[in-house]
Amino acid sequence: MSNRMWGGRFAEGPDAIMEEINASIDYDRKLYRQDIEGSKAHVRMLAERNIVSGEDADKIAAGLDKVRAEIEADTFTFSRALEDIHMNVESRLAELIGPAAGRLHTARSRNDQVATDFRLWVRDTVDTLDGQLTELMLALATRAEQHAGDIMPGFTHLQSAQPVTFGHHLMAYVEMFARDRSRMRDARVRMNECPLGAAALAGTSFPIDRHMTAAALGFDRPSANSLDAVSDRDFAIEALAAASIAAMHLSRLAEEIVIWCSAQFGFVKLSDKFSTGSSIMPQKKNPDAAELVRAKTGRIYGGLTGLLVMMKGLPLTYSKDMQEDKEQAFDALSNLSLALAAMTGMVRDLTPDTKRMKKAAGSGYATATDLADWLVRVLGLPFREAHHVTGRIVALAVERGIELHKVPLADMQAVEPRITDEIFSVLSVDKSVRSRVSYGGTAPANVRKQARRWLNALKRE
Ligand code: ARG
Repeated sequence: MSNRMWGGRFAEGPDAIMEEINASIDYDRKLYRQDIEGSKAHVRMLAERNIVSGEDADKIAAGLDKVRAEIEADTFTFSRALEDIHMNVESRLAELIGPAAGRLHTARSRNDQVATDFRLWVRDTVDTLDGQLTELMLALATRAEQHAGDIMPGFTHLQSAQPVTFGHHLMAYVEMFARDRSRMRDARVRMNECPLGAAALAGTSFPIDRHMTAAALGFDRPSANSLDAVSDRDFAIEALAAASIAAMHLSRLAEEIVIWCSAQFGFVKLSDKFSTGSSIMPQKKNPDAAELVRAKTGRIYGGLTGLLVMMKGLPLTYSKDMQEDKEQAFDALSNLSLALAAMTGMVRDLTPDTKRMKKAAGSGYATATDLADWLVRVLGLPFREAHHVTGRIVALAVERGIELHKVPLADMQAVEPRITDEIFSVLSVDKSVRSRVSYGGTAPANVRKQARRWLNALKRE
């Protein structure tokens, strides 16, 4: 049998393989809510403009509500022969209300319909991600305030560099996720134009009101060019780009958690709720949630590159290639959402071992810069010379296998005679972090202020 929706000119139905490659219902059923909302807005507008009767419009709207209820009650039978969510919904509508259902598709095509549905879904998802990023920022800033003064090593090249505080480290991620959130919000602003009414590609001869449908669906305005409206997917690509950057940030934090959880570091313990054991090694507690957050990044980037590559060679306007946009975007954005939830849970529950962190911060000559700064401040040495003098003292410590503050004063004076025992006061990690009072620096008072500023701002939203 040929397709009921478009089979007028067809004598034969499709090959089974054709049906399989053509059908998108297995994944685009996710758009049912958006599809029904879009259709209701469309039919109300058609009635308002006297393109369909008020009576038919009422019937159609009520029928669409019924279809939605069936889908939500899991009593709806999806059919692959009907290809996609749009034709599944419309076909059921016809079964429920009869011939009036055929009037719904007046002045509309699946091309503007799918562009609208997908935009609505991406917009909803971006709003959800925005809220989840906010939750994660709150969790991080809350922990940062608690640990504003707890010292840990700061790293470059994963080598001990200078002492910082755990709170400062967590607040670095708050700044990153804040930018991710603003990228989501920017993407939303640009995506919020309504393609509905562009019809197949050229617009329509019916006297439709595109401003009315745009407003009904919460869009800022109808899209200005009908060809652009049905053929671009940059709104999804932009959301995926923002998602990819957020995933990259999540992955770095996840990687740090994996490192911090190792017995060798032992900086944090994850709660049992966010760890797993090994079926052979009874002692194991593995940071699987963090590893999976790190891994999700791959498929999120995959979604972005998948869409970019799929779109790059398509002449205007719609080509069926574009049906492949949804599955990848659904997967990428849903997995980002899951990764955000998992990270927020881990951050809320983790227990830092502040003693161990502080001990590690004091090793590895992490206060060498403080020593050099003292030589500049107190003895007036140029920084380059102070750096050299400090390097020689560090070499002495390395040679003897002792920490910097254990090098005897006489040995330091052999390198630079003007050094006094005042030097030892800057070699402690506490002094070091407390001295970093420059704007954005790691001094605990700074960190506390930053954490409170963010907490207040986020709670006020
Ligand atoms: N299922 C299609 C998609 O997802 C809907 C649009 C089909 N339009 C068409 N002219 N075949 O892109």
